[in-house]
Amino acid sequence: MGVLDTIKTRIEIQEFEKKSVELEAKKKILEAGRLAPSGRNLQHWHYILVEGEEELERLASVSPTGGWVINADFAIVTTTDPKYNFNEIDAGRSMTQMQLVGWENGVGSRLYTIKEPDQKKAKLSLNIPEEYHITAVVGFGYPIKKIIGKKKRKAIDEVVSYNKFGTPIEI
Ligand SMILES: Cc1cc2nc3c(=O)[nH]c(=O)nc-3n(C[C@H](O)[C@H](O)[C@H](O)COP(=O)(O)O)c2cc1C
Repeated sequence: MGVLDTIKTRIEIQEFEKKSVELEAKKKILEAGRLAPSGRNLQHWHYILVEGEEELERLASVSPTGGWVINADFAIVTTTDPKYNFNEIDAGRSMTQMQLVGWENGVGSRLYTIKEPDQKKAKLSLNIPEEYHITAVVGFGYPIKKIIGKKKRKAIDEVVSYNKFGTPIEI
């Protein structure tokens, strides 16, 4: 599958098969994160691979919007150093790469963020140093049923201008 087809067919899922993701796929996903570009190439991220029923349960228990992670085969918690004002861009790019490489290998995923006070609780339970911030968590696993992306997205002329903001583009 080419990159654009991977993007077109990938939707975020929160129901996963009770089947372990192959180690090779997991390694490729982590590699996609490691190789991501970052501001000044600082690579200030640190990823935590979370797996195992108890660990995923604990992670799920500290998020009102990511409770579904309990159904994932594993999760990657992406932490970055918030002293860099581009930290969320860096984390976002690396997580997108991981999600796309996952899907290219048949592994579905969904992302969620953790706000305070749950951020503090999650950091404590994962031993994350004070100076780091959990930018987001991505749960991964094989999708429960065959899914073909049905994306609900704005039309291209609603989100793109030509030369100046608001000048319609014809493509
Ligand atoms: C910054 C960000 C925060 C998100 N937070 C949550 C969340 O807290 N819980 C959740 O279930 N999904 C979360 N999502 C997933 C979005 O709802 C999802 O990406 C969006 O609806 C598009 O899904 P689709 O690609 O399947 O159409 C988040 C996505 C992003 C990019």
